Amino acid sequence: MKPKTLKNIAFAKPHIDKEEIEAVRKVLESGWLTMGPETITFEKEFAKFVGAKHAVSVNSCTSALFLALKALNIGSGDEVIVPSFTFASTANVVVHCGATPVFADVKPEDFCLDPEFVKKVWTKKTKAVMPVHYAGNLAHIDYGGLVIEDSAHRIFKDHKSKNLVCYSFYATKNLTTGEGGMVTTDDDNLAHWLAKARLHGLSHDAWKRYDPNGKWYYDIEFSGFKFNTVDLASAIGRVQLRKFNDMEKKRKEIVNLYNKLLGLDNKGTHLYPILVEKRNEFMAYTKEQGISCSFHFLPLHKSPAFSKIKTPKLPVTEYIGYRVVTLPLFPGLSLKDVEYVCQKIKEFGSFKKGEFDLPVLV
Ligand SMILES: Cc1ncc(COP(=O)(O)O)c(C=O)c1O
Repeated sequence: MKPKTLKNIAFAKPHIDKEEIEAVRKVLESGWLTMGPETITFEKEFAKFVGAKHAVSVNSCTSALFLALKALNIGSGDEVIVPSFTFASTANVVVHCGATPVFADVKPEDFCLDPEFVKKVWTKKTKAVMPVHYAGNLAHIDYGGLVIEDSAHRIFKDHKSKNLVCYSFYATKNLTTGEGGMVTTDDDNLAHWLAKARLHGLSHDAWKRYDPNGKWYYDIEFSGFKFNTVDLASAIGRVQLRKFNDMEKKRKEIVNLYNKLLGLDNKGTHLYPILVEKRNEFMAYTKEQGISCSFHFLPLHKSPAFSKIKTPKLPVTEYIGYRVVTLPLFPGLSLKDVEYVCQKIKEFGSFKKGEFDLPVLV
């Protein structure tokens, strides 16, 4: 029998303590569990943090991306340019709007959408571009047309974007509410539409109808969706936002140590990607060593769901998509564990320059 490793290093863990538990307890005792005062306050606090005029909370980043496309009237016959190197959501929502995702390549420097490649796949039908801030890296966001930022990996103080920006509060994200999302915008009309669209299309403030201070009457202004979040989650989000700078500092410290020990230069604080030539072997090896790794992402244009969409060769996506591995990264990860992970990586192989001058573990 193989000796059991003593290590059990998680890939990601939420940074939750007594404060979040207390905040949820208060909501439970208040008798108001669904969208209500905690959510409205969380929206205001989040908007202020990222430097946007409005923040509209929803139940996931996927819902946020979908509503953002709907808000911009994107639908049948339209094309939306997305990276292929992203999570399924980014392209799925385009399909669900009746439009077609058009895949473009990413840059080797930051694995974010390549603006030069975007020009190559731009057609008369192109209605919007959806750059992804991969791993927390700042993507190019100015395309001279409609842009929806997929910021599932990046929450940045004073981002101050003129675009619709969509955030994720999924369990592994830098700020978590378990599941959740947010859309931010400076546009009053878009914000008002989004706030109604996430709750069936009911007239503004209809969520207050059971509150003693609310009005009993509401109208259904259009056929909206059921994408609202709940106060139980927003209470967690408010605490997480207060702790956000400290959590980011810890993530940055971990990224810096990985960089120093592995001789790399990663910038983002959400994911720590490396490229590995023999990925299958590496995943089995790290598991044996008690290290949980993951991979972000498979090239979407090669997946069965999108293989029918005509896509030119995406050289960077195809190179990194079959080699990328993401290492453990979360605020509670000890620096000792980071040292252990790096030591095990060095015992497996060493970094050599691969295609596009990218360091690859061989
Ligand atoms: C790049 C990207 N976009 C969108 C999403 C969807 O986020 P959510 O799970 O909040 O819907 C994810 C989730 O991991 C993601 O990585």
